[in-house]
Amino acid sequence: VTESDQPRERHTVSRRGLLGIGGAAAGGLVVGGFAGAALTAGESGATVVAEPAIVPFHGAHQAGIATPVQDRLLLAAFDVTSTSKADLAQLFKDWTTAAEAMTAGKPVGGDTVPLAPPDDTGEAAGLSAANLTLTFGVGPSLFDGGGVDRFGLAAAKPDALADLPAFPRDELDPARSGGDICVQACGDDPQVLFHAIRNLTRIGRGVVRGRWVQEGFGRTSSTGSDQVTARNLMGFKDGTANIRAGTKVFEQNVWVPKGDDPSWMRGGSYLVARRIRIRIEVWDRSALQDQEQTIGRVRPSGAPLGRKKEFDEPDFEAKGFDGKPVIPVDSHVALARQDVHKLHILRRGYNFTDGLDERAGQLDAGLFFLAYQRDPRHQFVPLQQRLAENDKLNEYIQHVSSALFAVFPGVRQGGWVGRTLLG
Ligand code: HEM
Repeated sequence: VTESDQPRERHTVSRRGLLGIGGAAAGGLVVGGFAGAALTAGESGATVVAEPAIVPFHGAHQAGIATPVQDRLLLAAFDVTSTSKADLAQLFKDWTTAAEAMTAGKPVGGDTVPLAPPDDTGEAAGLSAANLTLTFGVGPSLFDGGGVDRFGLAAAKPDALADLPAFPRDELDPARSGGDICVQACGDDPQVLFHAIRNLTRIGRGVVRGRWVQEGFGRTSSTGSDQVTARNLMGFKDGTANIRAGTKVFEQNVWVPKGDDPSWMRGGSYLVARRIRIRIEVWDRSALQDQEQTIGRVRPSGAPLGRKKEFDEPDFEAKGFDGKPVIPVDSHVALARQDVHKLHILRRGYNFTDGLDERAGQLDAGLFFLAYQRDPRHQFVPLQQRLAENDKLNEYIQHVSSALFAVFPGVRQGGWVGRTLLG
């Protein structure tokens, strides 16, 4: 295992570290070189250096998968309008340059001149990089959408990128599903995410057109063991049993390994995105006991039913006084448990709300489920098949969009995202 195979840590330079380097900084002046480090006046009037909050863009894998989950998401799907493979390759080169700048907290483009529109739209000026990660992938339709091989790429299409099957109870909106390309922007500040997607969209004008976007907040998963478990909109801790970066099970289940085809995907991963609406009003009217039996865990602590602490192992064999399993067999965790089924996915989803459903006058909110894996045919698909058939949670949820993307391997300094496919 090389150093670059290790999950990336947040690269932050502490205030003390910066002051130490400057030496003379106590007077308020810090000499630069730390892109994205914002200078602000503290309460005492002394200058405070905010942490630059940069997640490195380069590495064996793209950032935004194994790196610690940030609190905000803006995911954009695009369709390609050009029919030229050269345009597509150039777009990914330009996007790489812009992503390198923005993830380092710098503006995109060059110098501005008064008589032309500025390259950078400006709204992130003065903000830190906010741990921005930009993660790029391509969907099945790029290869053979509508049965047409627009870019001569059909032979390069991975078998693992076969369209997801229709699952029982799916009610998918095609306008919010699919897409030729996806860009997942994650970070600490929604304005930084908006700026990133806006500028990538702008750079892509004439080559791609936006298809759908999804905002998310309050990560519903943790990828590192040092992240506390956040709660989803059902009020339950979400991500307790998620696989953790740096473990063997993670390495084996998330990345496309050397032996898998096609070679352009090695070091990459497959992303499944499902917008899952939660029937909040119905959930809110159900008794706590029903809620806990539906999930299979205790709401306040997150412990498996029958146990005390969040990270206690669930005991699926334990029976109650009535002789029935303490964790109901149709509860979400009993059906989704990964140890027996040997199916592991990395969950990296977010809560969402998109205002009101006008027809019902109820909150349109839920979980924007994101999962990374080595091969969805053996991971997400059988898991979702089982959940869609029997999960007690189905009374309260509705899958309303679906997308699948092949997420490129990481980029080295001087390289560009997508080169393994388009170069
Ligand atoms: C709105 C929809 C969903 C909600 C509210 C939800 C919520 C939860 C909660 C509260 C847990 C227990 C804590 C934890 O280990 O994270 C959990 C576990 C899990 N969920 Fe979901 N989930 C949803 C959809 C899905 C879907 C669509 C899948 C995959 C197809 C999935 C896969 C899993 C897995 C693999 C676990 C861990 C099970 C284990 O090994 O213990 N979930 N989910």
